[in-house]
This record gives sequence, C-alpha cells and structure tokens, in this order.
Amino acid sequence: MKLSRRVEQLPSQFFASLAGKVAAAIKEGRDIINLGQGNPDQPTPPHIIQALQESVEDPATHKYSPFRGTEELKQAAALFYKREYGVDLDPASEIAILFGSKIGLIELPVALMDEGELMLLPDPGYPDYLSSVPLANVAYSTFPLLEENDFLPDYTALTDEQKKLAKLLYLNYPNNPTGGVATKGFFEDTVALARQNDIGIVHDFAYGAIGFDGDQPVSFLQTEGAKDVGVELYTLSKTYNMAGWRVGFAAGNKDMIEAINILQDHLFVSLFPAVQKAASEALLGDQSCVTALVKLYEQRRNVLIEECKRIGWKVTAPKGSFFAWLPVPAAFTSEEFADYLLTEADVAVAAGNGFGKTGEGYIRVGLLVDDERIREALRRIEKLQLFRK
Ligand SMILES: Cc1ncc(COP(=O)(O)O)c(C=O)c1O
Repeated sequence: MKLSRRVEQLPSQFFASLAGKVAAAIKEGRDIINLGQGNPDQPTPPHIIQALQESVEDPATHKYSPFRGTEELKQAAALFYKREYGVDLDPASEIAILFGSKIGLIELPVALMDEGELMLLPDPGYPDYLSSVPLANVAYSTFPLLEENDFLPDYTALTDEQKKLAKLLYLNYPNNPTGGVATKGFFEDTVALARQNDIGIVHDFAYGAIGFDGDQPVSFLQTEGAKDVGVELYTLSKTYNMAGWRVGFAAGNKDMIEAINILQDHLFVSLFPAVQKAASEALLGDQSCVTALVKLYEQRRNVLIEECKRIGWKVTAPKGSFFAWLPVPAAFTSEEFADYLLTEADVAVAAGNGFGKTGEGYIRVGLLVDDERIREALRRIEKLQLFRK
C-alpha cells in the first residue's frame, strides 16, 4: 500500500547506517568500542525500580491513567523544578506528561503550527527535530552553532524573513552534539527575541542534570518572562538512566502545554500509572544517584580529554551533556574519518554531518563506556599516527 506523503517524506535515520556497520563488525568477531551511540550505559537506580515493583502490585495502577497523567506526577514535576531551579509551576496548567521528550518535540509543531509556517532549528542539532517537519507539514530553516560562539546561536544573523515567518525556535543546552552550555544572558536574549518577533521557544533540556566543573546547567524557565514565550522539555531518560521507561514532561507556557494536552487526549491515555508512580519517586526521592552519575561522566570526560591531548589531538572539553565534539583531521571529511576509525581502529563514532551541515569537520564521541575502554580507544587511535605530539 502506498504510504502517505507525510510518512514518505520522513527523513531517513542517518545513524541507522552506523548502527548497521557496527553490528556487522561485531558479527565478524571484532572488538568494537562503540562511542557512536547515545544510550546511557548505567542501570536505573534501585530505589526507582523498587517503587515500580511495589506500584505494579497495586491493582489501582492496572487501570487507565487519567488522560493527562496523574496528579502525583505533575505535582512531583512542579516540586522538582522548585527544588532544582527555584521555578514555580502550576501542575494542572503548566505541566504536560510525555512518553519521553522525543514525542513532545514532535507534538509541539503538530499542535501549534499550520502548513508552511517556519520552524527554526539548530545546526548541528538532534536529528529527530526534523521528524516533525513532514508530520506537521511545516517549513524549517536552520541557524549555525559555531565553536567560536561557544555553540550558541548568533541571533543577529537571523534574517528579517526568518524572524517574521518563524513560529517555533528550538534550542538544546547542554547541547547534543557539541557539549556546549547556555548562559543566563543568552536565555535573556532568547526571551527578548521571542517577544519582539512573536516566536515560541522550545528548550530541549534532555541533559539538564549533566553539567561539569561544579556548574549546574541553567534552566530556560529561570529566565524572567520565559513562561510567557516558551516551554522546556525535561526527560528522566538521562538524569535517572530511564531511557527505556519513556517518561518526561513539558513545563512552562500554558497555551503550549494545553496544545500538547489536547493532541495527547486523542493519541494516548497517558503512561502506565505504575511508571508514573516510579517517576515521581525518581524526581522527589534520594538524588545522590544523580550526583554520582554526573561525577562518573565528568571523570570519563577528563580521561577522554587527557588521552586526546596525550596523543596530540587538539580538542575542547565539553561543559555538559555526555558527548564530546571533536575536530576531524584536515585530510578527512567527518564521514570518511568515522569510517576510517571503525575499519582501522575498531572504534565507532558518530560523523558530525549527521547532525547538520555545520557538523562537517567534527565527530561526536559518547562518554558511555568506562574509563578503561576510553583509554583503549585512544591507544588504538594513537597507533594510526594521525596527530603530532
Ligand atoms: C537532545 C535530545 N533531546 C531529546 C532526546 C530524547 O530523549 P527521550 O525521548 O528519551 O526523553 C534525546 C535522546 O537522546 C536527545 O539527545
């Protein structure tokens, strides 16, 4: 049967081909160190698993959830934002429960935009932002994130046409793939831009918990006026190693939250209530697991950067997220370099151009294997003699 135009036009998954190459290499019996993927390697903390186990025994959790999620989880999300960021949120009107943040990123344009309206997206950026373009039948244009600007957009470079047509602008800090972080001042400029041009802001805060060197990443919602112009999407996937559980929420602007909720009233009956219960425990329970996780990623980051420097690879340390964005030697394109590392060093990395054309010249490395594997990966790369010490 012929697919709808909407589905036909969905972008192909760039990283599916990387996953295929890695799987084929492993099948050949090669010891591949996979630094290409973004799946947290640590388990969900035991107290969250226990909350799920207890909750699933309660027959009340076997029924349909309230359409828009349980009061308990929305309350927990509001208390979490108050505790972590000092932000006040009304659980009923300023929080929407999501099956992970990915779905919210796609629902927002579907619920808020009409044919031909413009989305402004970061380049490089998380590839799934593009999925909503054909699904919502909207147009998009990108803005570059450059190293010389600490991977923050230069709003003065947006054209009048872009500012006039844009309905939503997407941001993501700590940033996947660059590891860049936002500043208070940058978010203030973002609110001003949104106000002046009537643009809705969508801040993807997937790596909100992961900031290094003692700096907690700033929430967009901490900015004066942020709730007037935008929402922030939070996920439990990374903060609590719950990627497979599919829990997140959107917080902020009432109209944008209501738009998500209306659409979801027709798509889902919210999450399994036992999962919502365990998610509440994650947000409000013991947070020492988060401190330990950030320490683990920071340690891995330090090992990676030290090892890169030791072999003469000139790199910049990421300030947050669990990714490092490393420059490719001049003789290669990003894709050639990623292929070369896979075939010659049995090290898998993600080619930067998979995140957009501004990603050319970089590869993305995930901090999702232990210190010794990171060291081993760099020893293998050292043997290729690509860098001068
Ligand atoms: C930048 C970014 N946003 C959103 C997501 C989606 O996370 P989830 O749907 O698990 O909440 C990811 C996942 O890797 C991500 O890297």
